[in-house]
Amino acid sequence: MARVPSGIPGLDRFIGNGFVPGSINLVTGKTGTGKSIFCGQFIYKGAMDYNEPGIYITTEQTANELRGDFKESFGWDFAMLERMGKVAILEVKPYEIRPLINILESVITKIGARRAVIDSETVFGLYLKDKYLARKEMWEVMNILKEYGITTLITAQILEESEGLSRFGVIEFMVDSIIVLRYMALAEKFKRNLTIRKMRRTKHSEEIHPIVISNQGIVVYSPSEALGK
Ligand SMILES: Nc1ncnc2c1ncn2[C@@H]1O[C@H](COP(=O)(O)OP(=O)(O)OP(=O)(O)O)[C@@H](O)[C@H]1O
Ligand SMILES: [Mg+2]
Repeated sequence: MARVPSGIPGLDRFIGNGFVPGSINLVTGKTGTGKSIFCGQFIYKGAMDYNEPGIYITTEQTANELRGDFKESFGWDFAMLERMGKVAILEVKPYEIRPLINILESVITKIGARRAVIDSETVFGLYLKDKYLARKEMWEVMNILKEYGITTLITAQILEESEGLSRFGVIEFMVDSIIVLRYMALAEKFKRNLTIRKMRRTKHSEEIHPIVISNQGIVVYSPSEALGK
């Protein structure tokens, strides 16, 4: 089966050549671990290198902040891709899922989206009050994405002192794969790493992979490659 290239150099060989087409994948980690960069790279490279239009749904950062951050840090010109109709950025307030559900299908068909990012899971409403409702809303969004065969990344933030995989402990059970990003304050050289916690239909790596964030974006290494550096 053909896989969906992540656009993250070094990663695809560890996940069976890329994401499963139409799958929903969680990218989780504490603050500043690179989740939004990972997602931006997936959308940017998808549009630039693989001709796969993408939708970036953002809650915490505004569309303008994202465009500015990505352009300044990595030279990724999202505004240009939006003008070309290859990318759409949708700002959604945390916990206000209805407006998103209302426009999602028309945006998908307008740009012919093959990829989507939901950054972050706080887009799903009412977590704290009603987990049942939250799940129901999540299913609604995920069903639209699945219906169109869109390969999706969702980010979750792990709180600093938490051992869990997401803030609310719901989303990890609803996704096809989980990638965890970490920042180690003590490691001498490779401070950042990535692990694949689960990936359905995939014989994936179980190692701890050093990652580097530079002005090229994220690169993923094997433990032995990292030693050789
Ligand atoms: N050009 C760059 N070179 C090296 N590192 C960078 C560069 N740009 C950003 N970073 C690193 O990436 C981090 C931000 O990554 P990102 O915004 O993806 O984190 P995040 O996991 O989405 O955080 P949050 O949960 O707060 O949204 C910065 O704190 C910085 O350490
Ligand atoms: Mg972020």
